[in-house]
Amino acid sequence: MKKWLIAVCCLLNIGSHSSILAQEPNSNPINPTTSPEGWLIKTSQSALRLMVDDKGTVKPVYYGPIQMASFQGNNEQWQSATDEVPVRGGFAGKTPMLEVVFKDGVRDVELEFVKAETIILEQRHTLKLVQKDRHYPLQVETFIRVLPEFDILEKWAVITNTGKKDNIHIENLQSGNVVLPADQYVLSHKAGEWGHEFQPQQTLLTPGIKTLKSDDFVAYANPSWYMIQPEKNLDKQDGDTWYGCLAYSGNYRVDFNLPYNGNLQITAGINFWDSWWNLEPGKSLTTPKMVTGYTNKGAQAASQNLHGYINKAVLPATHRNEMRPVLYNSWYATEFSVSEEQQIKLAEIAKETGVELFVIDDGWFKGRVDDKGGLGDWEVDNNKFPAGLQPMIKKVNELGMKFGIWVEPEMVNPNSDLFRKHPDWVLYFPNRKKNEMRSQLMLNLAREDVYQYLLKSLDKLLSENNIDFIKWDRNRGLTEPGWPSAPLELQREVRLRFTDNLYRLIDELRKRHPKVWFESCSGGGGRPDLGILSRMDQVWTSDNTDPIDRTMIQYSYLDLLPAKTMVSWVTRESFHQPTSLDFKFDVAMSGVLGIGNDLTKWTEEEKKLAREKVSLYKRIRPLVQNGQVFKLISPFLENRSALQYVAEDKNSAVVFCYQLAEYMRGGKTDRRKSSVLRLQGLDVNKKYTLENTSADKSINTQQVYSGDFLMNVGISWPLRTANKSLVIILTAID
Ligand code: DGJ
Repeated sequence: MKKWLIAVCCLLNIGSHSSILAQEPNSNPINPTTSPEGWLIKTSQSALRLMVDDKGTVKPVYYGPIQMASFQGNNEQWQSATDEVPVRGGFAGKTPMLEVVFKDGVRDVELEFVKAETIILEQRHTLKLVQKDRHYPLQVETFIRVLPEFDILEKWAVITNTGKKDNIHIENLQSGNVVLPADQYVLSHKAGEWGHEFQPQQTLLTPGIKTLKSDDFVAYANPSWYMIQPEKNLDKQDGDTWYGCLAYSGNYRVDFNLPYNGNLQITAGINFWDSWWNLEPGKSLTTPKMVTGYTNKGAQAASQNLHGYINKAVLPATHRNEMRPVLYNSWYATEFSVSEEQQIKLAEIAKETGVELFVIDDGWFKGRVDDKGGLGDWEVDNNKFPAGLQPMIKKVNELGMKFGIWVEPEMVNPNSDLFRKHPDWVLYFPNRKKNEMRSQLMLNLAREDVYQYLLKSLDKLLSENNIDFIKWDRNRGLTEPGWPSAPLELQREVRLRFTDNLYRLIDELRKRHPKVWFESCSGGGGRPDLGILSRMDQVWTSDNTDPIDRTMIQYSYLDLLPAKTMVSWVTRESFHQPTSLDFKFDVAMSGVLGIGNDLTKWTEEEKKLAREKVSLYKRIRPLVQNGQVFKLISPFLENRSALQYVAEDKNSAVVFCYQLAEYMRGGKTDRRKSSVLRLQGLDVNKKYTLENTSADKSINTQQVYSGDFLMNVGISWPLRTANKSLVIILTAID
């Protein structure tokens, strides 16, 4: 087999079968039904029913509230509903999950049910359905892995060419398909760009297709996360809510297909635009996972379910249960002008403030004096670190901190030794312009030699130096996805193979260096998907560190991803009005706290404040990183915002309050609305003390409040002037 063909047919590591169950064996959520054959899958609040119809086709009959689990549909409904695996072939009017071309030119697929079994995958009951084409050697296995406590199902597909001689040409293979009862639905999703990630969007779904997708690997524009609610429920706190996303970092798509007269069909999977896959005889192709959930408790519960799922079942197991360290990152302080002496000075002050992890950002490697050179040459710049990184790391370790470093492995600057030696290692088309972005091109990571080069360079870096943390950046999207030296039939597999090899590279590095933490960065939050988050421990949320903007970016980020992954630094940036250090810390403390200022310029007073804030953060960190998040007041709707994090046992909580603009004294409605702070998620029967952690003493901390009072009556909103904040700690007393 040729070199570039070796490896990677699997897009997903499903993991080995295991006999240890996360649920009791008798709580199998997958119930087979008979005459007609089918399955009823139950989570804590949802039910999914599938049936095999009299033509041998697997049909989704129902997906929604568990109370309706007995609903079997009628034959007419089954006939009109899409199939569980809708294919190109037969009648139109559905979004196909599978589109192939067989050797003889036949482009339609006809599937028939073969068998089903319940298996255990990574400790979870999983329904495996096997179907095959009625004529051609094509087998389609679909999986539904059930995580009942999060009301989540993971869906994916594996297709196999069971023939002996001909390739099957795959033009599209989606991960999963779900069908919602006919209704008038509103879609919530995110949109954005660099510095403005995760901006909330809401739209009524009208007949037609709405698509969220990426064509260049970057997810600023439309991350794959979505939430669907019936329009009639929108004003309610609770009510039917479906949610989901795709766990994939390459090009993805999520389609919401609403026929004029029918159920809403949602499909999610790899975006096969400009891509194909040639499935060789005996080979399989596995899709990434589509995550789909349902709760009857509204948007807040949907986010909490996703947080629980990501924290407990997605994040890499090695650090899943560890507290994310307080970090210092030198980017905003020194940019490319780094030197050993200056970084050590920063490290010493960082240590004084209580930082636990010191990270050198961009600029440490050969040829990296600005953003125009050096990417690809992952060797230390001896002009900046004369004896290599080791003396610097030793100093950082002696100070009692972990050491981290920035890399951008998928990229190369034309001004680099790597590019001069291997100009053909980039993605490009002959006779076409190579579009540079930030003076950089993208390496063709689909190539085995590029993969091996990156593995060797990064492995060397991690083996020769005591590095605990990697910030893995990617500062541009894909253009010119050409691979001219590969045979034609392989060239359009390049995007899929790139992503396969990216995952393979991270997985191998993690295997060889299990202690290392990884942070996903893509010019800020351009790669926040669950494919990367099953391999990386946290996300650099945005390059926009202005604390006012951050209250919004972070509030919205928490719709999809947990606080434990949301990295937030205190920097000198203030785009709107100057904001105090106090306010900046209070904003950054609601995620994974970091500091990014030039600490050598801080006054003694500022250092003292930083010390106090870092020590407060360490106190509340278990709540912030592991507590349940309640989004109390949205900065998108009011001139203030509040977030609350509650411990699992409801014995403690922390509340962050932010006043973003002057309190409106004149307008009665506004005043009424913005004068109360009602909490959520507490125990109605418990009594709580309130500890005001800031200098502002506007709340009564002498009084004891019942959970019932705090949630249903509330306390006075404690802030009046713009850009002020307050962190309140609640503790239950006997
Ligand atoms: C973009 C990242 O988002 C920044 O935090 C920083 O790492 C720069 N890249 C470095 O080039």
